[in-house]
Order: sequence, then structure tokens, then C-alpha cells
Amino acid sequence: MTAVFGVDIGGSGIKGAPVDLGRGVLAQERFKVLTPKPSAPEAVVAAVREVVRHFGHQGPVGLTFPGVVVNGRTRTAAHVDKGWIGLDAEGLFREALDLPATVLNDADAAGLAELTHGAGRGRPGVVLVLTFGTGIGSALFVDGALVPNTELGHLELRGKDAERRASSAAKERHGLSWAEWAGRVDEYLDLVEMLFSPQLIVIGGGVSRKHEKFLPLLRARGAQVVPAELRNDAGIVGAAMAAARVAG
Ligand code: BGC
Repeated sequence: MTAVFGVDIGGSGIKGAPVDLGRGVLAQERFKVLTPKPSAPEAVVAAVREVVRHFGHQGPVGLTFPGVVVNGRTRTAAHVDKGWIGLDAEGLFREALDLPATVLNDADAAGLAELTHGAGRGRPGVVLVLTFGTGIGSALFVDGALVPNTELGHLELRGKDAERRASSAAKERHGLSWAEWAGRVDEYLDLVEMLFSPQLIVIGGGVSRKHEKFLPLLRARGAQVVPAELRNDAGIVGAAMAAARVAG
């Protein structure tokens, strides 16, 4: 089968690699460039082209985006340049790369990877994957099927956008200890649990690397709470999975 390439577009870095879809792992070491500041569409597209060309890749490309994506159009941009709002991002990448391109929300991509190859593998019922980073991303699954663009990081918590209080960026910004931050995460999980009653919550994002520092501090709850398994590669793997589905 043709090689499929995944690109993860984040607030700080744009990273990509060809993906071994059978095993859900990177087929080669990933290549990363810094996200241009400001992260205007043309600048990001040029950076993505550099990442894809680094591998001389020919074939479908899947790309994550940290906002709502419907039919290839980016609809929101909480922590990237507002120029993305309303853009036909898929068309833009397709043209710039001259390759088939598929764009999806970053947390949805991470969720797809975790549900197939990671901590949510084979888990039926309602499963929620939450990524803690600059914001809070969410991917909701029902018997393995994704409900895209759930945006649960923007639920209201104590009168604020939840990700302003409980993301890992909020931990850094406010100099919170692990215990203090875990308290905020607990409050947030109470809210999502009240609304969705998931059987399993998978905690992803960069901070999941340090899960032993905060998962044991969380309260016991109805849902089982586990760390993501694919960590940093989940976005790239999930993006490639989405592109492969489209390519058929
Ligand atoms: C965005 C989401 C994104 C999450 C993680 C939120 O601010 O609205 O679309 O998944 O950050 O990057």
C-alpha cells in the first residue's frame, strides 16, 4: 500500500513522519520545525511543505489542526492565527503539496490513534480522550466511532473556559504544583463525567509523559482514567489514519 504521511500542527511545533498504519507507529524518525509566529495560514503551509518534502513523500497526507474542522474547513482557531477561521484548509494543503490531503482536529486525531493502537484499543461504550497541552482537546467515541469536534476544553468551569484553568499551560502559567493542578483536573473531569458518563477517560497530550506525577493524585471516579500510550506520536499516527480512510 502507498505510504501515508501524518503531520501534527501544534502551537509550538509542526512535526511529521511517514506512518506504519498496521502497527500504529512512525515508520521513520519524525522531523519537526517550529510553528511560525504569527501562525498565519501561508507561513504554516510553507512549514508543512518543508516537513513533507524532507522525506520526499508522495502519497496521501493527513494533518491535524488545533481547532474545529468540518469538511476540510477550519472553523475556529483558539491558539493559532485567526486567519484560519473559515478557510478551506484541506484545499490549501492539497494545492501547496500537490498531494491528497485530509485535515482533522488534533484531539480527534490523537483519539483515533489511541482507540486503535493505544489505551482505548478495543474498548466499547463511551470513551473520552482528553489532551492536555496549550489547550484541552477532546475526542469522544461511542463503540469506537468518533463524534468529531466535541471541543470540551471550552466547557465553562468556575466562570471561565475550562482550558484556561486546567490545561497544562495553565499549570505553567500559574506555577501550580502537581497536587494543585490535579485538583483543577479533578474538577474538570467531574464536569465532563456529569455530562457524558464515559466508561473510560484516556489522558493524553505532552503532560501524559509525566502521568505518574498526577494521575495517582486524582480522585476515584465512575470512569476508569488511564494515560495515553502513544504520547507524542498520537497526532501524527491519527492524522495518517484519517488520510488513509479517505484514500480508501
Ligand atoms: C481547541 C481545540 C483543540 C484543543 C487542543 C482547543 O483550544 O479549541 O480544537 O483540540 O485546543 O489543541
